[in-house]
Order: sequence, then structure tokens, then C-alpha cells
Amino acid sequence: MKQICVIGVGYVGLVTGACFADLGNRVVALDMNKKRIENLKQGIMPIYEPGLDELVKRNVKAGRLSFTTSYAEALHGCEFIFIAVGTPSGVNGEADLQYVAAAARSIAQNMTGPLIIINKSTVPIGTGDWVADIVRSAQPKPIPFSVVSCPEFLREGTAISDFMNPHRIVIGSLDKEAANKVAELHLPLRAPIVITDLRTAEMIKYASNAFLATKISFINEIAEICEALGADVKEVAAGMGYDIRIGKLFLDAGLGWGGSCFPKDVRALAYMAKEKALETPILDAAVKVNYRQRKAAVQRTAELLGGSVKGKTIGLLGLAFKPNTDDMRDAPSIDIAHGLIESGAQVRAYDPAAMDAARSILPAVDLFDDPYSMAEGCDALIVVTEWNEFKQLDLERIKSLMRTPVIFDGRNIYDPILMKQLGFTYRSVGRGYNHQP
Ligand code: UDX
Ligand code: UDX
Repeated sequence: MKQICVIGVGYVGLVTGACFADLGNRVVALDMNKKRIENLKQGIMPIYEPGLDELVKRNVKAGRLSFTTSYAEALHGCEFIFIAVGTPSGVNGEADLQYVAAAARSIAQNMTGPLIIINKSTVPIGTGDWVADIVRSAQPKPIPFSVVSCPEFLREGTAISDFMNPHRIVIGSLDKEAANKVAELHLPLRAPIVITDLRTAEMIKYASNAFLATKISFINEIAEICEALGADVKEVAAGMGYDIRIGKLFLDAGLGWGGSCFPKDVRALAYMAKEKALETPILDAAVKVNYRQRKAAVQRTAELLGGSVKGKTIGLLGLAFKPNTDDMRDAPSIDIAHGLIESGAQVRAYDPAAMDAARSILPAVDLFDDPYSMAEGCDALIVVTEWNEFKQLDLERIKSLMRTPVIFDGRNIYDPILMKQLGFTYRSVGRGYNHQP
């Protein structure tokens, strides 16, 4: 059992802390947001993540997990400290590291014994060295420490499973002893462990996210060509995916990527390159294709309604950037709602988990508690987030409730032939059927 501290109880930090506690360690999770910590002490989760509520409560009850806003309390007897504070995009796409710097300074001022400081947050290449400089300069007196990069590869909605079943653990440090100690923390996960230097570990994270984002933009570009030539991108992706060099995952064409990671990490990597006077044509193209999908959803819905959405009522099925999360950071739903409203439409929405987030993000959108009451009187619906509950909707009932039976399926969850049989005016992304007579 090790004494671990996690700084930042967001999507990454809370899952990381709860999972390390579940492995038998003693974890103290710290956040500067007092309300968030008070809520957690009362068993109220700050985020929606399947399984997290039970995991946190069980480990708190077992005495392995606790919460505080005090660095002095958190660092008492601590051997490992994970920095998992936000690293949002700055105005030019660069990663904003003010919170990482604040955490590093607070650690330096409160540490009482040797520490291994682990960057869990996604940070630009070279940040590990920068954190070490901050700690060294902020310490009242020199106390030994090492900085290690241990990037996260957690997907929201499956974060606990992704933590417990990692494809690999990446550890970056110039201090082999520290790297080995961090590796030991992860041994119960029985996953391949890559130990390398700090900058390489930081780059593995960015390159992995940038590749996945590019793979999605690639299939979305293929989808455009499929639609023009009458092929079905879902079948194309299936045929591609059997090739283990390609792999079947992250080949779902649709409205593209959102969330707090892909958009931020692709921009940050491109920014780092441009700071070294390097061009990034592939990353730039991946971003361009990605955000084009959102505009296309508005345009295609207008086409389905005879050319304009002005004066029409449009319902959004889903708001979160992906299913099984309440996270709306850079969600396609935001740009789609804004595009529709700017074009004169009245927009409604329903999402199984993101309604609280949506109230402040999309105040002009009418929110409904279920898809059927939302559909009543709508001229068109747009599938924005592929929640399972949308896949088995009673479509005949939906059709009877709508003013006109028009659906733009932004996540290709329905069967075009069935939709035609049901009498919908239906369009999806990259499905050759759109051109069937
Ligand atoms: C964030 C980044 O988005 C991700 O790229 C990185 O890999 C990990 O950190 P996430 O957990 O989604 O992931 O961040 P967020 O949900 O914003 O939570 C960050 C937490 O840190 C918040 O609870 C915030 O209150 C806390 N925080 C922020 C601190 O405790 N101290 C600070 O100085 C700043
Ligand atoms: C991602 C990475 O997968 C994870 O390893 C990293 O740690 C954080 O960023 P996340 O953003 O939580 O995780 O979700 P993910 O499942 O990767 O989806 C990202 C976005 O891509 C979502 O908006 C999703 O809708 C979209 N997506 C995903 C597609 O459009 N098509 C796909 O085939 C897969």
C-alpha cells in the first residue's frame, strides 16, 4: 500500500484517485474548489461517469480515499503526488499551464519529505522540466523530489474500465528509480509498461490523441466521398477495420470529435510545432475536416426542410460530446445549436445526462425531459449524440408527434432503408443510400 495524493478532482483526477484507492492504496484527493470537495465529502459526485459514484463511496467507506482542500493535509506522509488539474486551451491553442504551475508551487511549499511528482494532466512537451524548475525555486528549503510524466489515456464514459484495463502505461523520467517506483504502483494492472524520458512520454500522449483525432477526420473525409459516389461509409469502415494495421475502432463517421481532449491536444501540438517554425498540414487538415462536420449538419438539415430552417423547430437528440458523459466541452451540439439559431430556427434538446451543463451553455435552447415530448411539433430532429436510448426509440411514435418526419442522423445510428419504410425524410453521414431513388 502506498500513500498517494491527487491534485484536481475532475474527470481525470477523481477517476485516477478512486482507482488507485481501489487497488489498496491510501489516497487523499485535493481540489481548490471548496464546493466540489464539500460535495464529495457528502457523497455528491462533481461529474457523471458510469460506476464512479459506487467506486468513490466504497473506497471512502473503506478509509482508503478522502478529500481535502489543504495541501499540508494532503502531503502529510505522501510518497506520490499526481497533478491532474485542468490544462485548457489558451487563445492561440497553446495549453494554459497556470493551474499546473499553481499546483507545483503549492506542492513545493507544503512538502515535508521526498516526493515523486507525477504529471497526469496532458502537458506540452518539456513541461516536466518546467515543473521541476518551479518546485525547486518555490521550496523554502531543498527537499529531494523527482518529476515523472504518466499521461492518462482515459475515455470519458469508460474511464474506470480504461484505468483498470490500460493498453499500456507510459512513464517518463530521467530518474530511473522514480520511474520504477511509479511502475510498481501500476503492477496490479498487469499491462505493458513503457519507461522512457520525460519529453518522449509527453509526446506519446499528444501523438496518440492527435492520431486518433486524425483517424476520425480521415473517415469523415471518406464519408463525404462515399456520399458523393454512392458508397456506404459504415460498410467501408467495417471492411477496412479487419486489417489489423488499420483497426476497427475510431472509424465511426459522423459529427466528429469534441470533448476536453482531442480539440485541446491537437491544437496544442500544432501550436508547439509552429513555435518551432514547423508546418502541420495533417493536424491542420484534421481540425478543418472535424469542424466542417458541424456546419454540414446544419446545412443538410436545411436541405431536408426545403432549403431553410428559418421559422422551423428543430430538436437535438443528445448534447454531450459523446454518450455516457455529461461533458459538453467543445461538443458538436453547441456549434449546431448556434448555427440553427443564427439561421432563424427554434431549437429544442434532450440529453440523458448533460441537461444541467446545457442550461448555462445553451440558454436559448428549450430543454425537455424526454425525447418524445421534445419531438412533439418539431419540423426535424438531429441525432447529435449516439446515446443507446436513442437507438431503440419508438420511431413510429416519434413520427406521429413531429410536424414533419425529418431526421438528420449525425451519428449513423439508424438504418436508412428502415427509415425510408417508416416514411421519414432521412439523411445520415456518408451513407450511399442518400442518393437512392
Ligand atoms: C484535465 C485536462 O482537461 C486533461 O487534458 C488533463 O489530461 C487532465 O486534467 P479534466 O479532469 O477533464 O482533465 O479537468 P477538469 O474536469 O477541468 O478538472 C480539473 C480539476 O482541477 C477541477 O476540479 C479544478 O477545480 C481543479 N483545479 C484546477 C485545482 O484543484 N487547482 C487548480 O489550480 C486548478
Ligand atoms: C480521448 C481519448 O480516447 C483518450 O485516450 C484520452 O485520454 C482523452 O481523449 P475522450 O475524448 O474522452 O477520450 O473520448 P473518445 O471516446 O476518444 O471520443 C472523442 C471524440 O471523438 C468524441 O467526440 C466522439 O464522439 C468522437 N468519435 C470517437 C468519433 O467521432 N468517431 C469515432 O469513431 C470515435
